[in-house]
Amino acid sequence: MEEAYQEGKLRAIGVSNFYPDHFIDLASNMDIVPAVNQVETHVFDQQIEAQRIMEEFGTRIMSWGPLAEGRNNFFTNPLLAEIGHKYGKSVVQVALRWLIQRGVVIIPKSTHVERMRQNIDIFDFTLSDEDMAAIATLDTGKSLFFDHHDAETARMFMGWK
Ligand SMILES: NC(=O)c1ccc[n+]([C@@H]2O[C@H](COP(=O)([O-])OP(=O)(O)OC[C@H]3O[C@@H](n4cnc5c(N)ncnc54)[C@H](OP(=O)(O)O)[C@@H]3O)[C@@H](O)[C@H]2O)c1
Repeated sequence: MEEAYQEGKLRAIGVSNFYPDHFIDLASNMDIVPAVNQVETHVFDQQIEAQRIMEEFGTRIMSWGPLAEGRNNFFTNPLLAEIGHKYGKSVVQVALRWLIQRGVVIIPKSTHVERMRQNIDIFDFTLSDEDMAAIATLDTGKSLFFDHHDAETARMFMGWK
């Protein structure tokens, strides 16, 4: 990838699922530091420290699973609903706006056009510092999917084609 970048074939290199230990190793040993690193990031697993470390290297955090893929009753979360009520916005819009205000790149996924429209309609309001602080309390610091540091998880990924 670095060779392709140096030959002008790529404008940037992006990586995925490099959590702090692996990310520091990678970024310290590459000539071209990744422009983005896509990791699981949502209200329940906020990646505050991981983001700080990426920014030390000039890498932008990108969220996969910005809606937690609906896990942990995300779509009916009472705190996000209450905050959304103040602004006339949905739970989804509050969660996406919160990521944007933190400087996280987001790629929410939907197969429905109406939802895609809703998901991009987040640039006409601003969450207050109090809202941001309240949402920070939802962090569990744990994945809702898998532990990338677990040997069995690594084996599972090695088996993916
Ligand atoms: N790098 C990685 O390891 C990795 C891992 C996972 C995902 N990803 C990528 O991350 C991106 C994000 O997708 P994700 O699958 O992680 O999930 P996500 O964006 O957190 O959630 C997607 C789910 O939310 C629903 N949804 C979306 N907008 C909605 C709305 N406004 N109201 C209600 N429901 C809504 C979707 O249903 P409908 O489709 O029915 O609307 C879908 O079930 C994708 O591009 C995916 O490829 C990357």
